[in-house]
Amino acid sequence: MVRRAVCPGSFDPVTNGHIDIIGRAAALFDEVIVGVGVNRSKSASSSKLFTADERMAMIRDAVTPWPNVRVEGFSGLVTEFCREVGAVAIVKGLRGSSDYDYELQMAQMNSHLTDVETVFLMTDPGMSFVSSSLVKEVASFGGDVADFVPAHVLTALTQRLAERREQG
Ligand code: PNS
Repeated sequence: MVRRAVCPGSFDPVTNGHIDIIGRAAALFDEVIVGVGVNRSKSASSSKLFTADERMAMIRDAVTPWPNVRVEGFSGLVTEFCREVGAVAIVKGLRGSSDYDYELQMAQMNSHLTDVETVFLMTDPGMSFVSSSLVKEVASFGGDVADFVPAHVLTALTQRLAERREQG
């Protein structure tokens, strides 16, 4: 039986922290599907810098070292997406206790909804302070985020932020 895991997230944009978790999940499972959430219901402040297609393309470029990883968009519940793709587990990274509190709640809800397991991998300590939102904020004020995202993501981020600045 092929054991599949889903790595879900919004990936706006994908960071080296995400890629570390995806690569480690690829070593644990036969197949990993990176599930890019396309309709997350969070506050208006979560409006995306990149479209779902752009986010997926950036992840595809980043996961070429792992032939057992593929990238798909999903809308609706992550548990439903797991059922559709035949995944037995959701894999997520934990950076620290604030992630834990939120992730525990989601994992317990998801386990109530289905029998999919949530597997947590501890984030690389060198990446424990890295998040997509902080990367965007630092980059938008001209800070150097080259250590935290792949080169092609840095290029796309720099371009998109420049476009946003021109648009005012
Ligand atoms: O990158 P993020 O913001 O941590 O990703 C969050 C994501 C997409 C994994 C989460 O919001 C999610 O699972 N959304 C799908 C909707 C859903 O299943 N919600 C119930 C979770 S208990």
